[in-house]
Amino acid sequence: MKKINIKRLIEQGKSGQQVTVYGWVKSKRDSKGIVFIAVGDGSTFEPLQLIFTEDSIAFQATAECHTGAAIQASGTLQDSPGKGQKFEVSVKELLILGKADPDKYPLQKKRHSLEYLREIGHLRPRTNTFGAVLRVRNILSAAVHDFFQSRDFIWVHTPVITASDCEGAGDLFTVTGLNMDKPPRDSDGNIDFSKDFFGKHSYLTVSGQLEAEFLAMSMGNVYTFGPTFRAENSNTSRHLSEFWMIEPEMAFADLDDDITLAQDFIQFLCTRVLEKAGDDIAFFEKFYKVMTIDQLKRISESPFTRISYTEAIKLLQDSGSKFEFPVNWGLDLQSEHERYLTEQVFKGPVIVTDYPKDIKAFYMKLNQDQTTVAAMDVLLPGIGEIIGGSQREDNLDVLTSRMAAAKIPQEEMQWYLDLRRFGSAPHAGFGLGFERLVQYITGMSNIRDVIPCPRTPGTIRF
Ligand code: 4AD
Ligand code: MG
Repeated sequence: MKKINIKRLIEQGKSGQQVTVYGWVKSKRDSKGIVFIAVGDGSTFEPLQLIFTEDSIAFQATAECHTGAAIQASGTLQDSPGKGQKFEVSVKELLILGKADPDKYPLQKKRHSLEYLREIGHLRPRTNTFGAVLRVRNILSAAVHDFFQSRDFIWVHTPVITASDCEGAGDLFTVTGLNMDKPPRDSDGNIDFSKDFFGKHSYLTVSGQLEAEFLAMSMGNVYTFGPTFRAENSNTSRHLSEFWMIEPEMAFADLDDDITLAQDFIQFLCTRVLEKAGDDIAFFEKFYKVMTIDQLKRISESPFTRISYTEAIKLLQDSGSKFEFPVNWGLDLQSEHERYLTEQVFKGPVIVTDYPKDIKAFYMKLNQDQTTVAAMDVLLPGIGEIIGGSQREDNLDVLTSRMAAAKIPQEEMQWYLDLRRFGSAPHAGFGLGFERLVQYITGMSNIRDVIPCPRTPGTIRF
């Protein structure tokens, strides 16, 4: 027998067809000698309604069939008189493959809090909310590749283990094979990483950018899509210690090209999710009420506001609003400032450009004013920063002096400097935090609820 999932069955099935479905029981009720079981298999939002009438043998088996049980049900596909779903199945044969004790199964047919669901992370994908989140993640992941592939970007695989600290921020997890009970030490008493597995201090990557840069300087336009790790002690609703990042890098491109790509990319992803995840998005609109489908459509059509950092500071200072963190030229924008700009002032996505050099990474291209860099952050309502990007410094002398100022040892980075020695060219790229995008589109307020296995300071499961 060919196995068919519920999504396909609804899309391609024919009334009267004999079918066998597999899934987990979402709910059961009976009324006037008929038992109704809603079964889901993860493939689509709406569960399939199974009907059991007293005259069928399967009817007896429903007594043992409770929420959470894994089942196999065979019967006739028929038009559903109820609204919501096209088909239902009149079941002749029911097999309970795996029982679920109704007194012990942690998911019942009621709305559980998201906090509670985090405690049963291994079962939460069976809920409507997490099923929808995971399907949206899947559609967005595939859309990332469609977007870049259709524009001839080459998908490159940058390493998870690296010897360089891309952001220079020091929030790195060490990867080591040393015996931590008794690590080798140098004459100063520091751990001697030259005796470690790779012969040098190694880390989990915070960004694939530096490697993507050398790939762009030979392959033209490239992108990465992979997990990145940050050991920052940020316990917020938008920070993970392990998150997925998409990083395009373009050769022969400047900040304007970078901004255009960023906007096109976000708009493409919004459009695709509306086309392909209609049911799931309708569910988020109804139950989480953060963004309507109309708003999502508008974002996918209208150009994003673009302002300079200097203009942003002025706007915030003139706003008359009280902020917790100070607003002064030279200080970084905090999440409250980003949200004020997107939610109160522009009521939509905002791209802030040309930040002071001292608050941005060493690799960003110095502007003619010598005080700002060709950087851009894309900010979204409710989320704040979703993208950080820049044109890269392609002048060897400027780059080395920026590295010296940032106290970045140059011996380790000869390969990076080589790119400015041999065939240097203007290039630019950005990083988009995938989970923040999923948060934005679904309206899930906590980033822990848009990834199957969230890693945050003090918490790790599975
Ligand atoms: O702004 P960031 O730190 O930029 C970079 O890493 C650059 N090297 C990217 C590049 O130019 N290729 O990070 C990029 C994005 C942020 O805008 C944010 O959306 C996301 O990554 N991000 C996080 N998402 C979840 N949890 C965290 N701890 C994150 N840190 C950054
Ligand atoms: Mg950033």
